[in-house]
Amino acid sequence: MKFVILNGSPKGNESVTMQYILYIKKKHPEHEYVILNVAQMINKLETKQEKLLEVIQELKNADGIVWGFPVYVMLVCSQYKRFIELIFDRGFEELFNGKYTTVLSTSIHFYDHTAQNYIHGICDDLKMKYFGFFAADSWDLLYPDRRKNWLFFFEKFINMINTNQPTSIYHQSLTNREFHYEPKQLVNESDKIDTRGKKVLVLSEDTNNLTNLGRMVNTFKKSFLDNIELININEIDIVGPCIGCTKCGYNHECIYKDKDEFTDFWTKKVMLADILIFAGNIQDRFLSSRWKLVYDRAFFNNHTPTIIDKQLGYIISGPLSQIPNLREILQAHVEYQDSNFLGFITDEFGTSEEIDGLLYNFGKLAVEYSLANFIKPRTFLGEAAMKVFRDDVYGRNRFVFLADHEYYESHGVYNTFPQNDERAKKLNEKLIPLMKIDKVRNRMDLKQEFLRPFKKLLESPNK
Ligand SMILES: Cc1cc2nc3c(=O)[nH]c(=O)nc-3n(C[C@H](O)[C@H](O)[C@H](O)COP(=O)(O)O)c2cc1C
Repeated sequence: MKFVILNGSPKGNESVTMQYILYIKKKHPEHEYVILNVAQMINKLETKQEKLLEVIQELKNADGIVWGFPVYVMLVCSQYKRFIELIFDRGFEELFNGKYTTVLSTSIHFYDHTAQNYIHGICDDLKMKYFGFFAADSWDLLYPDRRKNWLFFFEKFINMINTNQPTSIYHQSLTNREFHYEPKQLVNESDKIDTRGKKVLVLSEDTNNLTNLGRMVNTFKKSFLDNIELININEIDIVGPCIGCTKCGYNHECIYKDKDEFTDFWTKKVMLADILIFAGNIQDRFLSSRWKLVYDRAFFNNHTPTIIDKQLGYIISGPLSQIPNLREILQAHVEYQDSNFLGFITDEFGTSEEIDGLLYNFGKLAVEYSLANFIKPRTFLGEAAMKVFRDDVYGRNRFVFLADHEYYESHGVYNTFPQNDERAKKLNEKLIPLMKIDKVRNRMDLKQEFLRPFKKLLESPNK
């Protein structure tokens, strides 16, 4: 049997993820394994048609295709995303139709499910026979039980192909509405939004008036009295994608720092704004690979929040409501950065006039929230995220991410460990021995116990 592995690691053969494939090869040498480093060689695939055709040729006679990748900022890396775009742009979808596939990711389990959901959606779009996913922790292969698990899973995949089992589809195809957004309402000069000193920055991949997205961001811009900044992300000088070297772990400095403008752009523009609007077109089941490049390159700050205390919202063109996975990623990204999630304005629903109104209110509310320093409590998306980071940076990855560790120490991130919660410690010291006495426990009204501090608060005239 021939397996073609689409390697999504920018590290190519030095990828941790590929060690999982080599392990299968060691256990099942009777099969053929062709590893294609498509993320690493994306520039060649993009510019040299013969290179892309070599990949296509391998895929043609594969019995099984394995998507194997590291999770990069909740998804796949920008290079792999671009490879997926090439499949559709160059019309190679048919090649994947009906092929058995499985998906292997390695990561620290930080939003690995969203990366997996994304690739699952792509597999369904390509009409592949999707066997299932294996979302490994980077180190799983080093533990006998977990290694066994992976081998077992892959053997099931082999068996499925051998016995030609049926597979199910999870995702509906996406449908785009045919709609031309034509801004109608010009805001009166007197109604224009006064930023009152707040810095507003819009990052968009379209800034001309030829597309819905371009028109939406320009309408948004025009609702302001002041001249707010609108940057086209295609115009930022970025010489290359993140290559996963993790050199930034030591001091939060990217290897490209002096080679292009990205570090300056992020630290002097994005980090200094009070209100941020990210604007993008949906391309397959995410935004464009250009947007992903921006997210990946911002990883030089590793696991420390950099968009702190800001208002951040999205203007999106495309079928966002049909991709809950993307909504989750975009909301989570705001929440774990300690900023306030403003929500989405899209061109999916409503008339042009209604979208005009939504854009205007978006700007108005953003300024009001910013003036009030309003940050909503974060949901599980942000709360859990920081805990995964905290544990990893405190523990096994501290030597790699020393700059994060220092930040976490100086900014109280480690204070969220339960053993550091003084209030909880005192409460437990007092109550646990009492709870162990049957008579006391049975007499205790826990509902009332929970309400006790609230009652105190509500009865207090000063709070
Ligand atoms: C730029 C970058 C972004 C990352 N983003 C995530 C992430 O969002 N979630 C996660 O769990 N791990 C993340 N990781 C960790 C990698 O997924 C993990 O180390 C993986 O095993 C690397 O595999 P590879 O050696 O095959 O590239 C990231 C690593 C890098 C370098």
